[in-house]
This record gives sequence, structure tokens and C-alpha cells, in this order.
Amino acid sequence: MAITVNEGKIFTINTKNTMYQMYVNEEGVLFHSYYGAKIGYSDLSYLSYKRNWIAAFSPNPRGKDYSHNQTKDELSVFGNGDFRLTALSLVNHDGTTACEPVYYSHQILNGKYSLEGLPAFYGDEGETLVITLKDKAYDIYFHMYYGVFSEYDLITKALVIENKTDKQIKLNKALSLTLDLSKGTYDIIHFHGAHARERMYERTRITHLKSTVSSNRGASSHLQNPFVIVCDKDANEEHGNAYGVGLVYSGNFVISAERDQYDLTRVVAGINPEGFEFTIEPNDSFTTPEVALVYSNEGFGKLSNCYHKAVRNNLCRGKFKNARRPVLINNWEGTYFDFNADKLVNMARDASKIGVELFVMDDGWFGHRDDDFTSLGDWFVNEEKLQGTLENLVKRINAEGLDFGIWFEPECISEDSVLYREHPDYCFKIPNRDPQMSRNQLVLDMSRKEVRDNIYNQMVKVLNSANITYVKWDFNRNLCDLYSVELPRERQGEIYHRYMLGVYELLERITSSFPDILFESCSGGGGRFDLGMLYYMPQVWTSDNSDAIDRLKIQYGTSFAYPVRTMGAHVSVCPNHGNARVTPLSTRGNVAYFGTYGLELDITKMTEEEKEEVKRQIVEFKQYYDLIQYGDYYRLLSPYTPDESRYCAWEVVKEDKSEALVCTVAYEAKCTVPPETLKVRGLDPDKFYRINGSSEAYLGGALMNGGFWLDYDHVSYASRLYHITQI
Ligand code: GLA
Repeated sequence: MAITVNEGKIFTINTKNTMYQMYVNEEGVLFHSYYGAKIGYSDLSYLSYKRNWIAAFSPNPRGKDYSHNQTKDELSVFGNGDFRLTALSLVNHDGTTACEPVYYSHQILNGKYSLEGLPAFYGDEGETLVITLKDKAYDIYFHMYYGVFSEYDLITKALVIENKTDKQIKLNKALSLTLDLSKGTYDIIHFHGAHARERMYERTRITHLKSTVSSNRGASSHLQNPFVIVCDKDANEEHGNAYGVGLVYSGNFVISAERDQYDLTRVVAGINPEGFEFTIEPNDSFTTPEVALVYSNEGFGKLSNCYHKAVRNNLCRGKFKNARRPVLINNWEGTYFDFNADKLVNMARDASKIGVELFVMDDGWFGHRDDDFTSLGDWFVNEEKLQGTLENLVKRINAEGLDFGIWFEPECISEDSVLYREHPDYCFKIPNRDPQMSRNQLVLDMSRKEVRDNIYNQMVKVLNSANITYVKWDFNRNLCDLYSVELPRERQGEIYHRYMLGVYELLERITSSFPDILFESCSGGGGRFDLGMLYYMPQVWTSDNSDAIDRLKIQYGTSFAYPVRTMGAHVSVCPNHGNARVTPLSTRGNVAYFGTYGLELDITKMTEEEKEEVKRQIVEFKQYYDLIQYGDYYRLLSPYTPDESRYCAWEVVKEDKSEALVCTVAYEAKCTVPPETLKVRGLDPDKFYRINGSSEAYLGGALMNGGFWLDYDHVSYASRLYHITQI
């Protein structure tokens, strides 16, 4: 039993290695006491605040020995004297902003809770604790949900605010998490970026300034990922306390941390309050997105592996979550908009010969789209361009031995489209103003059922018209000029969130209507690579940047929260279309192995030698598939430390430690290069191993503590795989 309640006052959540404790005081306030290493049962309520200590300018409840400005409140609220970052701010029907949540009841449920209309981790092996608080003055209830996956040290949280008064209340801020850490000096690691440069690792000290990552773009965005690690100032891959905070949400978000005036560190996370307001009608409720927490006292490696397993087994869904995914070829970088059916079939024919299994027709097959000015919203086939029906094209591709996949951008619309001409009000636009264009397109108001139904029906028609086994769901701009014709003036602040709820509803409908289709999420590459999207689509196009060297940083940053299985990774041509870099084909292959591996090029233009190399790669990728996709993942050498090592390196290890695969990628070749050894992780220290079938035997402990010699290739960006097998 992961959840225990003592005398109705102390709530303890135990996972395999961690413990989370809360406590209800005499007035019914729910305080956080502890989150960290498992320490067996003990009453840690004394850690919630220092008794009999109230600092100047920290207001206190009348006659009480504490101030909310100094306590660890499990649900921190604005307006009660807590002047730090808080999670909740509401306006009562009378205009007051006061809110005093106190204990009302609790429940322990078998299995993991789900959230209506929102993505969430799921599974019968999970457990649920619900603590309900109630405002002292009004019938407003706060249901605090805790989900526990003991094996992965994962604790999830969500808040349902229920209005049982007979009047409307309004939320100005409704975050999912308040986390007060024990005293310490902490860093925050976050993953920033841009289009084609997603999830760049950055680490900063949490100081008395607020450290905030956020998005106000209507998508989680390329710029910041809704995942951070808060860790000891000296924590690293193998050592130290680290807390992962990941939002299971794809829209506007905020994660903020601050060290307060008493040097305590608080972290809050949830929907970005900027541009957010939500009215809750009587007898209605509001549900915050879920936040997923993992604590590790063995540094980031352990923390990442907990997320990886939980995402693989208890977030991703459907037929493909654990099945081997097909090796695909996508025509985007190979042809862009310039193709017809014959061209695609020729590509498929060559691809089939070297072992590719799925052909994906990207953007440009619908309406009269030959560039990015037109036709989004017109999801009907351009039969002139495809030289016939879609069914016919798919039959031709299938006849070459390949399955068929197709691209959609369901959330957007071009002004030059039938849909726009018929329904100009379907997209976001502010009356009397000219909207901002982005890639010449506008965004559909997905908060409206009518709009979603239209897109759903169009997509269903296409998907039923041919033998389609894969869909790439793209989203190539961000939201602005928000105005929804269906919402009254006072509810316009709900659009960002309602948009996300609408997208999730449409995704749920489409993915459940087509359970045999593999869905890949995309937003100009990795502009929406988050735990929310992974609930609907088990893989994400990681970045439009497919240069193997840039990918080292992109995939490195992505790997902190997201498993290899979720990262779309393709081999493309050189010079790379984005940065003109030339890299060995073997390196492009090796880097893409640690993702979904596919091709994104015009295969008909490859030399025979290149095709042979890719053929070899596909065989090798399949040979290592299970090890790579289900093994424990270790970041060995960071791509950010070229002065410390000439290589970037990472490793996957089979759960039973019998086998590992290390990949190294060297930076630019240099003169007079000293040889280097590399230490691996995760092996059995007492067992012997061979590397790439060599005759030498190495003790696991030796490989982990002493390392092995790396082979040096006098070529820029050379890469090697080292297959380590137990004897
Ligand atoms: C986005 C995607 C690309 C491709 C294009 C098509 O940029 O990330 O992979 O699908 O759209 O327009």
C-alpha cells in the first residue's frame, strides 16, 4: 500500500525509493512536510514550519503561531498572507479574493485517477489519494488528486475546484503544483530553444529572483519545455537530489521557482495565468492539468529512467505503445511540395528495396497546395497532383511492399481555402482588426464543437478512403489574436485552455476511431513535445533540424524527460538543408537509431553505395531495436563539454544488465589527438563483458570505474557503436 493515513492527519505516500508527506493541523490547514528519500514511517509534520516563529511583515491567523508566508502550504493561495509564488487565485461571487481551504475529507482509491478531457498517466497498478479541502466561508471545494506509481517513483498531482455555491466564481490562477523544498541551495535545469533548436539544456541557480519558464503561445512551444529539474547545486547524472516537474499539458504553462526571504525554495507549476481567467458556474468544476513528479537521490540518470518507463508504460497508449514501429521514409525534405504520384511511387520502390516499411506523404497532397499559402482546412485530395485517387496511390505504394502514411495540419486554416470562404468565423480573429499571419495561416477555433466536427469528418473521410496506417499531426504556428465568437465577453479569457481541451477532444476522437493507425505529433518539429501530446500520440517529430550534430544537443535535452521511443529521428541528406553541415552517413544513422529511425530524403537520388549503407543501418537498427527502445538510458558525455572530451556519448543497458550499446560521436577532427577512455554505467560490476565481440574480457566494475579505450577515426563527426555483452 503506497498511501497511508494516520489518525486522519498525516498523509504519507511511499514509492519504491521516495516518500511524500502532508499533515493537517488543528485548524484543518493542509501542510506539506516532506518530499525526498524514503525514510520509513515517521511523523515529519514538524518540518512544515518552525513553531512559534513569525517574522516581521508576515501576517498570521489570529492567535496562531505561524504565518502562511513561512509555512509549506500544500495548496498555496493568493490573498491569505502568503506573499510568495502561489498556486491559486480566485474571485468569489462577492468580488472578494479570500480563500481559506481546510480539510474536509479524504479517500484512497485503487488504480490511478483519470481527468475528464485531459491527458493523464493511467494504470490499474497506480493508486490514488484524494484529499478534499473546503473554503471556510463558501461552498467551494478543492479536490487534491495524488496518483502514485511506486515502481517508477512517480507521483502525479491535479486539482479539481468545485463550485457548490449558487453563484459564479472566477479563477485568475489555477496551478497544479505547490512544492516547498527542504532547506538547500538548488539549481533549476530547463530546456529552452527555438524552431530547429529545441530543448537546449540550461542550468541556473535558484536565487531570490523568480526563475520562470513559461509559454504564452497557446502551445507548450519550441522556446521552453514544460519540464524542469530542480536539484542540489552539485547534483549530476549519478549523484545528488533531483526533483523532476513535468506538466501533462500542451498549452500555455508556467513553472516557477524562487528562494524566499527565509531561504526556502518553492516551486509552482500549471497553466500560465497570463491571458487566463475561468468562470465556474454553480455546481460545476474546473480541473487543472496533471503534473508529474519524480524525485531521485541518485542524480538525473535515475530520474530520467523513471520518467522513461512511466511514459512508455503508463502515458502512451494504443497498439503502438510497445510494438515495434515501422521504419519510415518521409518525402518532405526529399521533395517539399514538388511531387506527384509517380515520383512518390518511385521513391517507395527504392525504399522498399533497402528495407523501409512505411512511406509517408507529407504536406502538399490536398486542396491545391503547392506552397504554404493555401489550402489548409481543405482536407480533400488533389487528384490532379496525385494522378488519381488517394486509394489508387496507396495501392501502388502498397504494391511496392510499403505501408502508407499521410500528413495533416488539422488545427490550421489558409485564407485561400474552401473552408475559409465558407466559414470565415471558424478561425481566431479579433473583430475589426487584421489578424497576425504566421506561415501565411490562421488557427481554427478548436474550442468550438462545430469546428472540430468539421475537421473530424473531413479527416475520417480521407482515412477511410485508403489503406492508411500512419498519420503525422502537425501544427505550424502559435496562437494570437484570440477571440471566440461563441464565448461571451467575460469568458474570452478561457480560450487558450478551451482551445487545448478542444484539441485533446479531437485527438481522442480521431485516435480512438482509428486504433490501428500510428500517430506522430509534430509542431514545426518539436514545438509541442510534451507529456500531454504523448498521451494521444506515442511519438513526436523531435525537430525540423535533422543535422546529426545539432541533434546531439536536441536529443540530449529531450532525453531528460522523454524516452528514446518517443523521439522521431530521421536520416537526411548532406549538406544538411538547415545548416549546410556535412556529416558521415553512418553518424546520421547512429544518431537516428536513438529515436524512431527513419529516412527523410529523396532516395532516388542516393548512390548505390549510400543505399547499401542505409540497408545495413536498417538491419542493424532492427537488431538493436529492443535494447535501444526498452533499455535504461544513460547520458555519458554531454554535447556541451567539447573541451572536456572529444566525444558526445550515451548508452542503453538492458534491464537485466546482460547487454549494453554505447554510441559515441566525435566533434571536428583535430591534429595530435590524445586517446580517450570512456566509463559506462548500469552494468553488473562483478560480471565479465566483451566489447564488439572482442576476445578481451572486461569486468563490469572495470568498465564502469576505469572505462575502455575509444577508437579514433580521423574524420570529422565520426561515430561508433560499442556493443557490450556479458560473457
Ligand atoms: C513542419 C514539419 C515538417 C513538415 C512541414 C510541412 O515544418 O515539422 O516536418 O511536415 O511542416 O509543411
